[in-house]
This record gives sequence, structure tokens and C-alpha cells, in this order.
Amino acid sequence: MAEMNRQVLLVSRPQGAATLDNFKLVEAPLAPLADGQFRVRNHYLSLDPYMRGRMNDSKSYAAPQPLNEVMIGGTVGEVVESKHPSFAAGDKVVGMLGWQEYGTSDGKGIAKVDATHVPLSAYLGSVGMPGVTGWYGLKRIIAPQAGNTVVVSAASGAVGSVVGQLAKFAGCRVVGIAGGADKCRYVVDSLGFDACVDYKAGNLVQDLKDATPDGVDGCFENVGGDGFDATLAQMNAFGRIALCGMIARYDGAAVPLKHPELILTQRLMIQGFIVSEHMDVWPQALQELGGLVAQKKLHFRESVAVGLDAAPQAFLGMLKGQNFGKQIVKLI
Ligand SMILES: NC(=O)c1ccc[n+]([C@@H]2O[C@H](COP(=O)([O-])OP(=O)(O)OC[C@H]3O[C@@H](n4cnc5c(N)ncnc54)[C@H](OP(=O)(O)O)[C@@H]3O)[C@@H](O)[C@H]2O)c1
Repeated sequence: MAEMNRQVLLVSRPQGAATLDNFKLVEAPLAPLADGQFRVRNHYLSLDPYMRGRMNDSKSYAAPQPLNEVMIGGTVGEVVESKHPSFAAGDKVVGMLGWQEYGTSDGKGIAKVDATHVPLSAYLGSVGMPGVTGWYGLKRIIAPQAGNTVVVSAASGAVGSVVGQLAKFAGCRVVGIAGGADKCRYVVDSLGFDACVDYKAGNLVQDLKDATPDGVDGCFENVGGDGFDATLAQMNAFGRIALCGMIARYDGAAVPLKHPELILTQRLMIQGFIVSEHMDVWPQALQELGGLVAQKKLHFRESVAVGLDAAPQAFLGMLKGQNFGKQIVKLI
């Protein structure tokens, strides 16, 4: 009898906030491999904010996730069977094999990874797509100079944690914005930021002002909420804003920008970007990030849900900030 594969499908589109009903866990038999294919046992699945956008059927930079198909998602795992000349059983690989326990591939978009010095799961975080996102937005858009002040929102998260640490390495004063005292303590004590403002503490505007006495030269924006307004108010003339994400709006909330005129009066440069459109920088960024993680200079934290069944709830939790660090699912 064929071995079974467990998968999570998107079965409906959210009306407002995403819910568990949008997903369905199914079992499907694994088809025999064709020549040129190999099979991967996925060990970890990445849960990322962009997946929320793909659940909608609306105009965006990427096509919507089709209904009744396996949810899109980054994975790391091990090749368990191969009819492909370049992949052998035992190879550790990263790719987009989706919310399922086994993936079948012809090798397109799959990269071998070395888990000797970098933990396998880190290829979904600091040494993967979120890490490159932080690297690109900071280095290529903000381009910080030593002595600059850089503010990063969702500072304890997968992208934000990389941005802040890289900005510290570049000699900047780095201020995070995060939700809650525990996250802020971690951002300062473990990640080495100079300060972190807890936007849930009720004094965001004044707290950010106090934490940025010389104003803000670079803003790495992950949220698009009140923290963005507070940061805009502190921007120095000719400051740079890397507009990476607007997670506060992904479930449909309207969060108007209070002072867009500051973009003009402070002559700010604001650049939105999508990391997958900058594939040319990935090899350099991944090499640097991998080296820093292997040398234990770049720190990260993970929220680990266990089992594929736990993926939908963990995903919804991540969209509400219930994750603490990179949200992944351990599949075995
Ligand atoms: N442009 C690109 O190519 C690209 C690539 C990857 C990621 N991104 C974006 O980068 C941002 C961070 O992604 P990530 O993977 O690193 O996620 P993450 O930061 O690990 O997790 C999301 C975090 O967002 C924070 N958050 C702040 N305000 C929120 C709100 N109103 N609702 C929900 N969450 C809120 C939460 O942290 P607190 O508890 O601290 O609020 C939550 O933990 C996202 O906006 C994502 O879409 C963009």
C-alpha cells in the first residue's frame, strides 16, 4: 500500500481575519517517483506573514494561493528517496515544498544546505528568506553609516532581529519596537539593541522620542501601524525608510498614516521592496548570515509548533503577534 502524506490545503478565502475554517488537513497517498524526481521528508515548515496575502484573491505582487491546493510555504528537510542525478538520500534541502510532511520535487528552487554549523531550522529564518529580507532592506535601502540611528519594528521577529543586529555591527544606534516587556527585554539583552520601545505600554510616541534623542536616520518598517507614525515623527531630514511589511493591515484593518506630510517636509526616501525580486543578492547575503550564525554572532529565537495539525493555529497566532521569534512548525 502507498505511504500516506499529510497536507494542509487552503479551502476558503478569509472574510476579514483568517480563521481555522480556511484550512483543511487531508491525507493523500504518495505517488511513485518519476525519473528526475526526489522525495523530501520535511522536518520544519516556515510560517510567514506573506502567506496571509496569498490567501486573498486580490491584486498583489504575487498570484493568490489556489483553493484546494497545498498551502505555499518554505520547508527544510531530508531527501529520503531519489531518481534525480543531483540529489541523493540523506541530502538536507531547503525549498518551497508547502504545508505537508513530504514534498516531491524535480529540483527546481531546491538548494542543498549544510547543517553542520547552522541548525537546519535557521535556513527558514536568519539564514533564509527572512534573513535576506533584513539584509537587503538594511544594506541596500537604508545603507546605514556608523553613528546613524536606525529604528526597526517587529524587532524580536524573524526579519527584525536580523536587521537590528546587522545595524549594530554597522555601528548604529539601534532602537526596536516590539509588543510586550518580555520581547523588549530580549531585544536589548540578547540581541544587543540599544533600546526597545514596548508599543503596548501606552506611551509609544514619547517613549520612542526618548529612545531616539538624535532623531532617526533609518526606519526598517515591518508593521505599518502606530509605530510607523511615531517613527516618521522622529525622522531626520533625508532619512531612509525600507518599507518591508505592513502586518498590522494584513487582516484588513484600516490603519491610516497620521502624518504623511513628513515624507515631504523631511525629504524622506521611502522604498518598498520584495525580497524575491532581488535574487542577485541572495548568495552574498546568505553567505554572510550563515557565517554570522555559525560563529554565534547573529542570534535568533524560534517559536516551534509541533506537528502539521498545529500549523493553522500557529499561523493565526503569528498574525496576532503570539510568536516570539521566527515561527516554525516541527513536522517530525
Ligand atoms: N518585503 C519582503 O520581501 C518581506 C519578506 C519577509 C517578511 N516581510 C514582512 O516583514 C514583516 C515581519 O515578518 P517576519 O517574518 O519577521 O514576522 P515576525 O516579525 O517574526 O512575526 C510577526 C510579528 O509582527 C508583529 N506585529 C506588530 N504589530 C502587529 C499587528 N498589529 N498585528 C500582528 N502582528 C504585529 C508581532 O510582533 P510584536 O508582538 O512585537 O508586535 C509579530 O510577532 C512582516 O510585515 C512581513 O510581511 C516582508
